[in-house]
Amino acid sequence: MKTRGPIHRAARAMARRALRRAAQQLAPPAAELEPGAWRLERDPLGRLCIDSVALGDVAARFGTPVHVVDAVRLRENAARFVNCPTAHGGGVETFYPYKANPVPGVLRALHQIGAGAEVASPYELWLAKTLGVAPGRIVFNCPIKPAGALRQAMELGVGLITVGSRQELPAISAMARSLGKRPRIGIRVAVPGATSHFGESTDDGSALQAFAEALERPELDVVALHAHPNAELATHDELRAFVAAVLRFAARLRTRLKLDLEVIDLGGNLVCPTVAQVSPIEARVQMALGREAAPPERRQLLSIEDYVGLATTQIEAHYKREGRPMPRVFVEPGRSMTSSAQLLMLGVVQVRPPDDSGVSTVVLDGGINVAEPLVGERHQVFAVSPRPNAEKRTYRLIGPTGASNDLLYPSVVLPELQSGDTLAVMDSGAYFVPTSTTWSFPRPGIVMLDRGELTLLRRAETFEDLVALDLLEAA
Ligand SMILES: Cc1ncc(COP(=O)(O)O)c(C=O)c1O
Repeated sequence: MKTRGPIHRAARAMARRALRRAAQQLAPPAAELEPGAWRLERDPLGRLCIDSVALGDVAARFGTPVHVVDAVRLRENAARFVNCPTAHGGGVETFYPYKANPVPGVLRALHQIGAGAEVASPYELWLAKTLGVAPGRIVFNCPIKPAGALRQAMELGVGLITVGSRQELPAISAMARSLGKRPRIGIRVAVPGATSHFGESTDDGSALQAFAEALERPELDVVALHAHPNAELATHDELRAFVAAVLRFAARLRTRLKLDLEVIDLGGNLVCPTVAQVSPIEARVQMALGREAAPPERRQLLSIEDYVGLATTQIEAHYKREGRPMPRVFVEPGRSMTSSAQLLMLGVVQVRPPDDSGVSTVVLDGGINVAEPLVGERHQVFAVSPRPNAEKRTYRLIGPTGASNDLLYPSVVLPELQSGDTLAVMDSGAYFVPTSTTWSFPRPGIVMLDRGELTLLRRAETFEDLVALDLLEAA
C-alpha cells in the first residue's frame, strides 16, 4: 500500500492552516445570545449572576465541573406546558420524559407543577413510583418491555402502555390475561418523515395492521395513538405538517377500524430555542476550518405557547369538522422543558499560546465525558467572571480526556481567559446528565438555585464511588 510521505503531510497541514486563517478572517464572530435569555444578569463587576447569586461563588463553593439548576426557570417552563391556555380550554397533558434528565430533584419540581412521567425503562418506572407519581400520570413507553416491568406497569395501572411494535402484542396480551387486567394501550406509529427504530409505519400499512391486531384482543383497552417526531420541530410549518400527518392517520383509524381515539400523544422533540442543531457535515467543516458555529436564528422558532396553541387548535379544528369530540392531547417535552433551566460550569485548566491562525487552545476540566450533546449541538458559552475590559480572543475549547474527539468548541470568541477561570455552558438541562460517563473522571455534582437558596441535588462522585461495585481485593 502506498503511504503518504512527510512532504505530503506537511503540505496538507500548511493548506489546512491557511484555510483556517482565511476562515477566521472572513467569518465574523457569531453574535452571542444575551444572558437575559436564561434569567442571567451581569453585576456591576461583570460577573454572571442568577437572582443576585454570582455563579463564580457557586463554582468556588462546589468546584467544577458542576451543574446549576435554575429552579425558577424550571417551574416556569413546566407551568408554560401544564397551564398553557388553549382555544378549546382543555390544554395538553404533559409527561416529562425521564430519559432527558433523570435527577430526582429536577423531576420532583416538575411533578409538583403537574407534569406526569414518561418512562422508557424498568429503572425509570421504578423511579417514578419511588417519587410518588400517581400511576395514572405515568406513560410506560419502554422500547423493550421486560416481563417484570410490564407486570409492574399493569399491576400499578399506569395511564398508558405504549406499544412500539406489533410483535409486542402477544406478550402484553398474555400478561394482561394472566393478571386479569385490561391495560390502557397506545400504539406508537412513525408518520412519513419520522423515521425511527420504534413505531409502526403509517406509510406501508403496518401501523393500521398493528391497531387492527390490538383491537382483536379484548384484554387490551386500545385508547391512544402515539407519534413521536424523530426530527426536531422548530418551525410552525414543521409542527403543522407533523400534526396533519398524525390526524390523517387518526382519520384512517376511524374509517377503517371504527376506532375513536381517547388520546393523541404527540411525543416530544420540540426545539429549545437557544440551542442549534449542528449536522455531522457542519461539525466536520467547523472542526476543519476552526469556525465558530452560529447561534440559532430565534425569530422563527416555535415557543412552548406556539407549540401547545397551534397543535391543539389544529386537532380541535379537525375534530370539529368531523363532528366528533376532541381527544385528550398528551405531550412529552424533554429538551424544551428542561434544557434552558440548567447550565454546566467548567474550569479553565490551561491556556496555550495562539497558533498561527490566532486560535488558542484551552483545556477544560470537563469535556465530552460531561457534555456529550455538544458533539451535535451549538450551546452558548459565557465567561462567568470576565476581567474588566478583557479583550476578546478566539479559543478552541477541549476537554481533559485526551481523546482526539474531545473538542467541545472548535472556535469560540470569549473575553481573554486564564487558568482558574470558569465558563458556563448553557442549556445543559437535557441529555447532559444521562449521557455523562466516568471516562477517567468522576461525574459532577448538581446544585439547585432557588431564588437565592442553594441546595445540593446530587453530590459529585468520589473515586470510591467509581469502584463501589468492583471486587477490589483479590479473592
Ligand atoms: C417517545 C419519546 N418521547 C419524548 C422524547 C423526548 O424528546 P425531546 O427531548 O426531544 O423533547 C423522546 C426522546 O427521545 C422519545 O423517544
